[in-house]
Amino acid sequence: MTGNTEVFESEEFREMLNKTRTMKEPPQQDGSLRQAWYINRARMILNEKEKELGRKLTFCVVTFGCQMNERDSEKLRGILKLAGYAEKDTEDADFVLYNTCTVRENANVRVYGRLGSLAPYRRKNPEMKIALCGCMMQEKDVVDRIRKDYRYVSLVFGTHNLHRFAELLVASLMSDRQVIDVVEKDDTIVENLPAERTYSFKSGVNIMFGCNNFCSYCIVPYVRGREKSREPKEIIREIEQLVADGVVEVMLLGQNVNSYGKGLEDPVSFADLLREVEKIDGLKRIRFMTSHPKDLSDDLIEVMAHSEKICSHLHLPVQSGSSRLLKIMNRHYTKESYLALVDRLKAAMPDLSLTTDIIVGFPGETEEDFLETMDIVRKVEYDSAFTFIYSKRTGTPAASMEDQISEDVIRDRFDRLLKEVQRIGRMRSSRFEGQVCPVLVEEKNRQEEGLMTGRTPHNLVVHFPGDEGLTGSIVNVRLAESRGFYYMGERV
Ligand code: 5AD
Ligand code: SF4
Repeated sequence: MTGNTEVFESEEFREMLNKTRTMKEPPQQDGSLRQAWYINRARMILNEKEKELGRKLTFCVVTFGCQMNERDSEKLRGILKLAGYAEKDTEDADFVLYNTCTVRENANVRVYGRLGSLAPYRRKNPEMKIALCGCMMQEKDVVDRIRKDYRYVSLVFGTHNLHRFAELLVASLMSDRQVIDVVEKDDTIVENLPAERTYSFKSGVNIMFGCNNFCSYCIVPYVRGREKSREPKEIIREIEQLVADGVVEVMLLGQNVNSYGKGLEDPVSFADLLREVEKIDGLKRIRFMTSHPKDLSDDLIEVMAHSEKICSHLHLPVQSGSSRLLKIMNRHYTKESYLALVDRLKAAMPDLSLTTDIIVGFPGETEEDFLETMDIVRKVEYDSAFTFIYSKRTGTPAASMEDQISEDVIRDRFDRLLKEVQRIGRMRSSRFEGQVCPVLVEEKNRQEEGLMTGRTPHNLVVHFPGDEGLTGSIVNVRLAESRGFYYMGERV
């Protein structure tokens, strides 16, 4: 944990906890009041257990995957803490929860491996409960396998009922059997749940859930459901509360933030939302992800270019440079239109850092297609890029496409791409050498005593001499020496 965080619960939720303390039955209606009742209930059960065992009960949450999952885990940890568990960094805990990812096959493989490695802890602690949640649990064959081969897992739930975690926790604490609750669809957005932030000074904020795009390789729309946006006033209220609690940077989260607000009763655009977030006093930095190129409006470029708080960094997944493949991927843009968008962005913000996601080895990818990807990487000059080997996800259209690419060919292309991405990344990063940048100080350097680590608005990591008291503040640092993808700096 960084910056000494406590569970953050809103005033409203604190009142709900008080109000439900004396209620005999849980409130019928799904929502935060009902969950508050269950947190109280869990607290009672755990109190009894602690008396019986003569010690405090502990939990450990392990997160796989994206920033959405990171944020979800903060909520899960908040509930476990309010229920009375003490947090542990290691998995020899009484309640171990894996928040899983399934975007690529190796994410699944890691979860099974990790479950297996819990065996010695299980033998030592008969009280231990193991729970699984997140995207992987929305897949039927995964749940079947857990049911059959992993009987010792106590609780399984999915992405749609995460807001009912307190209730599911109680069900699991009261039962010796495996509790499995995975639903196909649930459009409720429960506001006001508590969260235990990893960092005291920065936070993710969900602005929408789900995805409507059905890129042909991607499993996310199947496991996260259709897009639904939160009401702007709820988002603003949450950020205001976070700022009052010490947050200076927010990361607005959604699978496709550029289509934010479309389904709301009073539709608003993402650019409009940003204009409102900008006005929040005390908030210093705004980031967001992920942007789909097909929906990035000129209005958004305008807002970014004129904002004092939105960071000079845009993550704009391209996936491939081949217009032919982009069509089969169902991305709704071409190499040319993507490059034209990048030109508009750079014209409005010459200093902008651009990062991206690229998939290598999509079914049918020819050497020519791949060279188009290399070409777009050179033309855009990304500051950095996440490169992924295509992973076949059962149930997606791409999984049944003919002409899956052989491993050797993919490996060779992947290596060539990575080299190019790194060469360009180093070059881009060196453009800051000697400059003084405002750096949000995030944590003590993990390797070297006496150094602190922070980030510039361009999302560059900087290490510099400083003490822990600086954590969470923004200080001016000279970017003295580029070390490829990070800087060594000194305070000025
Ligand atoms: N195989 C490889 N990479 C994938 N991504 C999504 N689905 C797959 C897949 N089946 C990548 C995309 C996306 C990022 C979050 O994960 O590049 O932008
Ligand atoms: Fe997956 Fe495409 Fe949705 Fe991103 S936009 S989550 S890649 S389907």
